[in-house]
Amino acid sequence: MKIEIVAKKINILGEGPTWDEKNRRLYWVDITGKRFYYLDPDNERVEVFPALGMISSIVTTNKENILAATEDHSLYLIDNKTGMHSLVTTVESERMNTRFNDGKVDPFGRYVAGTMDMQEKNPIGSLYVLSGNDVKKILGNLTISNGMAWDVKNQVFYYIDSPTKKVNKYYFDKNMNIELIGTAIDFKHEIGVPDGMSIDLEGNLWVAHWGGGKISIWNPNKGRKIDQISFPAENITSCTFGGDGLTDLYVTSAANKGSSDLGGTLFRVRTDIQGSKSFSFLVS
Ligand code: BGC
Ligand code: CA
Repeated sequence: MKIEIVAKKINILGEGPTWDEKNRRLYWVDITGKRFYYLDPDNERVEVFPALGMISSIVTTNKENILAATEDHSLYLIDNKTGMHSLVTTVESERMNTRFNDGKVDPFGRYVAGTMDMQEKNPIGSLYVLSGNDVKKILGNLTISNGMAWDVKNQVFYYIDSPTKKVNKYYFDKNMNIELIGTAIDFKHEIGVPDGMSIDLEGNLWVAHWGGGKISIWNPNKGRKIDQISFPAENITSCTFGGDGLTDLYVTSAANKGSSDLGGTLFRVRTDIQGSKSFSFLVS
């Protein structure tokens, strides 16, 4: 598969790509670079927006704003036109040693995001669900909360806490209560740790390898690898499907200290596989 370079070495920690179907844009963030971006694939233009602090994920909503998770453990709605912020809620306000990491909207319009130990050592992070203005914790003891994907047909939620080197699977219900079923994918023999992920319409998972320079594609029911795509960057952080027909895979990456690889680049791979869409948060 041909790898396209969309924005070369643009990020320190590129993350959280999400496809805005309505405006035909790809949003993503640079967490430590304290910026977020969108790409208009029609003219390949990239717009950059500075953030006040670290911003770990942004998602579209059903209104004219976006929802952002920020360094101070808060979730804000940001008006698309004015840039005005309004606080929705704050979690873990007593903690100085955690921050939000990956976040995504579930098929019911709720925002799910987890926190991580900034030292990347101890299981002091949690996973939260924001429904309207109400936030609840659904998992604890997480070290680096990362990728998420929902298989709507089988009511399975896939989730990654990176240092475990596993993609776990859970039953989920309409209120996003979850119950562990087991391990879907074991990364024991893989290079790097699993970071962000996406699911395609056949139910296969596309998992980013932090420290492994690739996206691997898995049948999660069999725990078997189907294929992999290698990138000229060691730290591949996440991926999502976008473009007409949701067949373009957008891939984010992070800079790699002391290396001359293309870390920090936004890549694109044109596939013939249809991905699941990025859902929008339902503002209450
Ligand atoms: C985090 C990084 C972490 C990486 C690998 C990313 O999602 O933001 O801080 O090093 O995952 O686990
Ligand atoms: Ca991540």
